[in-house]
Amino acid sequence: MDTNNCDGVCGNESVQPVEPKGLSRRALLASFGAGLAAIGFSTLGETAAYAAKTYTVCKTSAVKVGSGKVFTPAGSNRAVLVTQPRKGVWRAFDARCTHEKVPVAGAANNVVVCNMHGAKFNADTGAATAGPARRSLTKFKVAVSGTNVRVTF
Ligand code: FES
Repeated sequence: MDTNNCDGVCGNESVQPVEPKGLSRRALLASFGAGLAAIGFSTLGETAAYAAKTYTVCKTSAVKVGSGKVFTPAGSNRAVLVTQPRKGVWRAFDARCTHEKVPVAGAANNVVVCNMHGAKFNADTGAATAGPARRSLTKFKVAVSGTNVRVTF
């Protein structure tokens, strides 16, 4: 009698269930993750999926000190929030609120506001200061060239 086929219901405690032949669930998940990585997806974020580009987003005159505005630069479909928290200090963020990815409305008095559910963010650091959003806005590299505000993302 072959006791190795017992599924643990035969009453023979010394017989262990046999792993099915082929891929285990763990091996299947590992190979799925490797496949995603091979085609450019990352489970750690979306930064690995594309190469960053620099866009001219707006003129310096468009964003007053203490304020922020949302722009969609030519050649991109991404909304970018540009702020000027202090004279000559520029910041740029992904304009999507970290609560439910709705574009924020802009900034006034150095406070970025999302009108969807009322979240607030610091216009200098992007840190969430009032819920329901808890995570900071994603910061982009920003530079001023002449009168152009250029953002890399
Ligand atoms: S989507 Fe911005 S607060 Fe909810």
